[in-house]
Amino acid sequence: MLLTIRDLSLTVPTASGPRQILRDVSLHVATGETVGLVGESGSGKSTTARAALQLVPDGSETSGAITVCGVEVSDENPANIRDVRTHKAAMIFQDPRSALNPVRRIGDSATERLVHVHGVPKAEARRRLVELFAEVGLREPEKLLRQYPHQLSGGMLQRVVIASALSTDPDLLLADEATSALDVTTQAEVLAVLRRLRREREMGVLFITHDLLLAAAYCDRVYVMKDGSVVDEQPAETVFVNPTNPYTRALADATPRLPGRTAASPSTARPTTRAGR
Ligand SMILES: Nc1ncnc2c1ncn2[C@@H]1O[C@H](COP(=O)(O)OP(=O)(O)OP(=O)(O)O)[C@@H](O)[C@H]1O
Ligand SMILES: [Mg+2]
Repeated sequence: MLLTIRDLSLTVPTASGPRQILRDVSLHVATGETVGLVGESGSGKSTTARAALQLVPDGSETSGAITVCGVEVSDENPANIRDVRTHKAAMIFQDPRSALNPVRRIGDSATERLVHVHGVPKAEARRRLVELFAEVGLREPEKLLRQYPHQLSGGMLQRVVIASALSTDPDLLLADEATSALDVTTQAEVLAVLRRLRREREMGVLFITHDLLLAAAYCDRVYVMKDGSVVDEQPAETVFVNPTNPYTRALADATPRLPGRTAASPSTARPTTRAGR
């Protein structure tokens, strides 16, 4: 198992006192599996993924157990946390701009982990990046390396951080709304790259999205979160066909679909997404 989260609860300090954000969250991602984490804004999806890497606000209280690639992640063992963040898992953060230093060139930011943490020679790191930039549909990759974040669109930046996360060959990828700012064609290209890596390297992906249709089309299994709890878990095929949980049913009903398409076939509603499968 690449990721196991068991009964994770998290309370953060706020100006008005402690606030519980996660309640008994349990989920897992197996080797080579792509697992969707879906839910409305504020339901706790990003917090869950960040907690897997022990990226929690100072003063937080947590309970439960997290294991990444067999390594226990807990604040009592900083060496484990370093090991997981460096060698086992990579996270694509929801806001690509916050992941890149605005005053450093893309090439320096995007190769930083490879060069300084993994000890890959600079030229080799840039070569790997250029290859991945092209794969995620970024044109003129060499020129991109010399540019600054403000010179790129949101969708370009999103692809830069995706390529940067993939460049370190993670076993587990935590992808937080990684394709949300992309048009459907580019989204399909990026999803195709993730699929290939999943096949070739058996990479596992926790795929966070607010888009139930995308999760159903792209993932193997889907967890649904609401108010800090996981309220449903289903194989992707049944999310629309047989939404057993009332909240999942409400999400499925609220998902816009093209006229004439059936709820049971998200693949027909978004053929470009399916192409990445
Ligand atoms: N450091 C923090 N201090 C206080 N509250 C926080 C903190 N981080 C997150 N929250 C709250 O926790 C809840 C869950 O936030 P989270 O970002 O995990 O939601 P999300 O499901 O990722 O939402 P979205 O789809 O909008 O990205 C929200 O109500 C948020 O305001
Ligand atoms: Mg989020």
